[in-house]
Amino acid sequence: MAGWSGGKEEIEMETEKAVLTGRGDEEHFERAVRLLLEGELVAFPTETVYGLGALATSEEAVRKIYKAKGRPSDNPLIAHVGTAEEVMKYAADVPNSAKVLMDAFWPGPLTLILKAAPGVFAPSVTAGLDTVGLRMPDHPVALRLLRQLGRPVAAPSANTSGKPSPTSAYHVAADLAGKISYILDGGRTGIGIESTVLDLTSEVPAILRPGAVTAGMLEPLIGPVNGSAEAAEAGVAAPRAPGMKYTHYSPEAPVFIIRPDVGEIREAVDGLHREGRRVALVAPAGFKEAGADWFFPAGKAGDPESVSADLYAALRECDTTDADLILAAAVEDHGIGRAVMNRLNKSAGGKWFGK
Ligand code: TXA
Ligand code: MG
Repeated sequence: MAGWSGGKEEIEMETEKAVLTGRGDEEHFERAVRLLLEGELVAFPTETVYGLGALATSEEAVRKIYKAKGRPSDNPLIAHVGTAEEVMKYAADVPNSAKVLMDAFWPGPLTLILKAAPGVFAPSVTAGLDTVGLRMPDHPVALRLLRQLGRPVAAPSANTSGKPSPTSAYHVAADLAGKISYILDGGRTGIGIESTVLDLTSEVPAILRPGAVTAGMLEPLIGPVNGSAEAAEAGVAAPRAPGMKYTHYSPEAPVFIIRPDVGEIREAVDGLHREGRRVALVAPAGFKEAGADWFFPAGKAGDPESVSADLYAALRECDTTDADLILAAAVEDHGIGRAVMNRLNKSAGGKWFGK
């Protein structure tokens, strides 16, 4: 058990961290459950990123999430469940497509937007919408916590709003120490980017946020899915996934996307050096030769899944440097690569180097 206290100016509480080892963890789970029931915030690992959990039925508890993260309150939260059966209690209407997808992909990185059952969720979970995002995470720590609690847990990513999402307990503490009660440390997360958000309340199911579960995986089971970049953008305009309209995943220095070509990157770096600018590079292992001042490897070339796992940690590392600018290597825009490019585009505000 370790304690942190946050920045001097605004120490509000001591944040306790429990490192889970698989033995003697009972007391940590009991403590986490008790804190959640008391309306406190508990961060926990999922297979995608760390979540910042609050009891989803308590308005007072859920409001603490927005405060700790500095998150705009018109951005609804995903409610996490420990079993698929609970969905029958939490959603007003569960179409057959939802049942098929829960069977196929839960527990897993797929959030389903359904009509919410009235009176279940604290108003701040849904941010005033009549729908709710539900997901059962595929992580032993998250599942044990949710099942022991037996209630839904609202949990956005456990980072300061705007920063890259946390893929380790260290990242959570870096952003939120002093602002939350407890961190369950279950090591690094696997997938590394947030779940696919699928709207099942629209006429054609629409991917509002791409993730590891792709349109190509969904369509054989439920027919046509709108997986276009426009569907996600429509979520911005509508806003059906209001979260997509804010700055996201951004380190301090400006990010520019660049083609994953060592020669091209070396040329860019040389040019920037001639202007006296210092460069951090986030790219697959092997791109060290490009000559950037700082190199943070993210995955392997041609393997977007491995890039996904490392991307946020690498972007966060850039904040430990004095770089004037960050170059981030693109991946192919299909499969989980689409989700990686979605996050890179948001991190870079759509900017490509030299364009
Ligand atoms: O992988 C994940 O999904 C992580 C882990 C912790 O489970 N959670 C996560 O939650 O990313 P959050 O709150 O950061 O992202 C929720 C996304 C946002 O884009 C939000 O706008 C959208 O889902 N969303 C939530 N409820 C919605 C609703 N009722 N209608 C439309 N979009 C919704
Ligand atoms: Mg987030």
